[in-house]
Amino acid sequence: MSGAALCALERFYFAIETIAKTPRNDALTALFRMPVLFLLLAIAAGFAGPARAQSAVAEGQKLAFDRGKGNCLTCHVIKGGDLPGTIGPELKDIKSKYPDRNELVAIIFDETKRNPQTMMPPFGRNRILTEQEISAIVDFLQTL
Ligand code: HEC
Repeated sequence: MSGAALCALERFYFAIETIAKTPRNDALTALFRMPVLFLLLAIAAGFAGPARAQSAVAEGQKLAFDRGKGNCLTCHVIKGGDLPGTIGPELKDIKSKYPDRNELVAIIFDETKRNPQTMMPPFGRNRILTEQEISAIVDFLQTL
């Protein structure tokens, strides 16, 4: 075969190879990128999850201690709170006493349902606290 023919043949093969490889390479790169993407997403979710929970706990504590909002300290001793009253029981070991958070939501929403004689204001029924605020307070109570 002449040199020119060989050269043309080589170019032909090179062209075929390039065409054949390109899409497969793209697919391969995409395939390798996928786990990296998932890993990044998982890491992001891992960081965002506890961070969000942490901010709800801090918000709940603020609301519970706020004299114009939850005002829970007027009647309950709560770790970290100043000048508590003792009309109600100390709020501690809450998660073991009430493993079901719905029970806590119900107590804060309207304790008169459980105990019609209670001194505890029905925070939800009287719209002193919104559902979201009650939920944040419950997140905080579960850390006690
Ligand atoms: C005016 C007083 C008063 C205020 C304010 C008050 N509570 Fe209470 N709370 C009580 C009393 C009294 C009880 C005892 C149970 C009952 O009376 O039914 C109680 C019971 C509870 C219980 C059940 C505790 C247990 O050990 O079983 C939880 C939880 C609770 N309160 C959370 C709160 C939260 C959170 C706030 C603030 C948003 C709050 N309370 C504000 C008086 C109060």
